[in-house]
Amino acid sequence: MAGLIPQDFIDDLIARADIVEVVGRRVPLKKAGREFKACCPFHGEKTPSFTVSPGKGFYHCFGCGAHGTAIGFLMEFDHMSFVEAIESLASSMGVEVPRNESDQPARHYDELFSLMDSVARHWQSCLKDAPAAVEYVKNRGIDGPTAKRFGIGYAPEGWSNVLDKFGKSDEAIEKLLATGLIIRKDNGKHYDRFRDRIMFPIRDARGRTIGFGGRVTGDDEPKYLNSPETVLFHKGRELYGLYEARQALRNIERLVVVEGYMDAVALARHGIDFSVATLGTATTSEHLNRLFRLTENVYFAFDGDRAGKKAAWRALENALPQVREGRQIRFVFLPDGHDPDSYVNEHGADTFIKIMDEGLALSEFLIEELTSQVDMKTVDGRARLAELAAPLINTIPAGIYRELLVESLAEAVGLTAAKLDGLLKDGSSAGETGRKRRPSAVRIRQQTLVAGSPSVVRRAITLVLNHPEAGQDLDVGKLGDLKRPGVDLLAALIEIVQAEPNITTAGLLERWRHDDQGRHLGKLAAMDVPSDEDFDPAAELADCLTQLATAGRKDRISFLIEKQRVNSLTDDELSELRQLN
Ligand code: CTP
Ligand code: MN
Repeated sequence: MAGLIPQDFIDDLIARADIVEVVGRRVPLKKAGREFKACCPFHGEKTPSFTVSPGKGFYHCFGCGAHGTAIGFLMEFDHMSFVEAIESLASSMGVEVPRNESDQPARHYDELFSLMDSVARHWQSCLKDAPAAVEYVKNRGIDGPTAKRFGIGYAPEGWSNVLDKFGKSDEAIEKLLATGLIIRKDNGKHYDRFRDRIMFPIRDARGRTIGFGGRVTGDDEPKYLNSPETVLFHKGRELYGLYEARQALRNIERLVVVEGYMDAVALARHGIDFSVATLGTATTSEHLNRLFRLTENVYFAFDGDRAGKKAAWRALENALPQVREGRQIRFVFLPDGHDPDSYVNEHGADTFIKIMDEGLALSEFLIEELTSQVDMKTVDGRARLAELAAPLINTIPAGIYRELLVESLAEAVGLTAAKLDGLLKDGSSAGETGRKRRPSAVRIRQQTLVAGSPSVVRRAITLVLNHPEAGQDLDVGKLGDLKRPGVDLLAALIEIVQAEPNITTAGLLERWRHDDQGRHLGKLAAMDVPSDEDFDPAAELADCLTQLATAGRKDRISFLIEKQRVNSLTDDELSELRQLN
């Protein structure tokens, strides 16, 4: 394996990359003041809300919320992996990517894509020469045009068809291995991964084949075999059929997410062009990001059995942070024994669309599922419901959607929305369960935590992100051990800008790429910090830190006083308290 790319190389690359050039080479940009604008390449729009800021090294769309650095743009637009994007950026700037451990040469992705494409076409032609395979495809209700549109093929029996045809040199064999088309044995010999299977090419957003799914034509196991994770193929990110859907439709009004290749193909065959399949994985938040970038209306069609319910629930959990006004998410549960493929083949497209439209709204599914888990006839049961709902509701962004959901939930448990919201916010149980509230150190901490105002932290983070130089002379020590959401992040940001005085906004974002908080940072970086005449980011940042330090001291005092009341203080704590006062 190639070694890790050193962080300072990434910092440097990002600092030197010209985001306007990277984006501009792919999307026509127009200058607007200090920034550049275009119609967003990630969602359909007529007036430009996609903005590129050369100063921050960052792009942002005010319409769909897409944002990122030059690396992020290459990943999204050219559908590259992280490493690929770095390699592409480096090569466009004429530098070579160093590796920490080994010096394996960078892979040539173009060659890998073209190999995948040749193999896909080869398998398509094999299908024509295999009457039994054609028979199978026909029996599954797939007609010629649909098979062609999805590039469906057949990998014949035999251990070395692909190996012999495409692996004529050591270098060619390396490529077959890198794309997962062949497997290396212990003795160093190789064999074909896909044998005697109907082949479904999995394409990226630009239509390039990045992996395959292969189905047996009989009862062998496993029923489906997929390409392994490779440099081209990342399962948790891909949606089978998305390219084909985008090809077929000019406007994507809605998308229906199904579980299987055959489901997506069968729906398309019946004219339901807007279906995509997850590839044997749960619906991830990355999937949802993609879906919502293309449309506001997402339907999930699952089998009606327990596995289907479970998969739907996972999808719901991942969807909650992305729900908001205007977005519609519905869950369609098919009658027992059916999947979308069998259902549409038996009942036709109109009926399928009808049951889609009658699907459960996300809020209905959530409430229905939770109420089925408790005894709604008892006070305890209803209290338990509020308890189960709290962690879920709390992942929904504040806004009308959340308010409405809390209202419906309140109705279900027989409380006022205000009361329920209060319960949700402090994360405690409904209080009627008879459980005693015992003040403990942990509890006191929690209370001081929610009592704080996050806006100062947020403001400070926004300032450091937008004006990294403003963090140069601050004393992070002032923050003490203040426990507030975001404070650790703020301290880490300040430490980095002090260690790397030349780091840019984009460079900071890249540092958090593989971290959950990265997404929030992107949003803050997109906020415009007002800059009137006497705007002094360094002074304002210092002011935020002073405010936080004061809040931290107050927190500590109330903590110590409370502890003194409930328990007792150690000698050290006593003298600390005296000093703080
Ligand atoms: N899957 C997989 N590996 C398996 C079984 C399933 O990757 N061994 C994935 C495939 O993407 C498949 C999906 O899970 O399409 C759904 O599986 P399943 O419901 O078992 O199959 P169907 O889609 O109904 O396949 P078919 O109709 O061809 O039997
Ligand atoms: Mn099926």
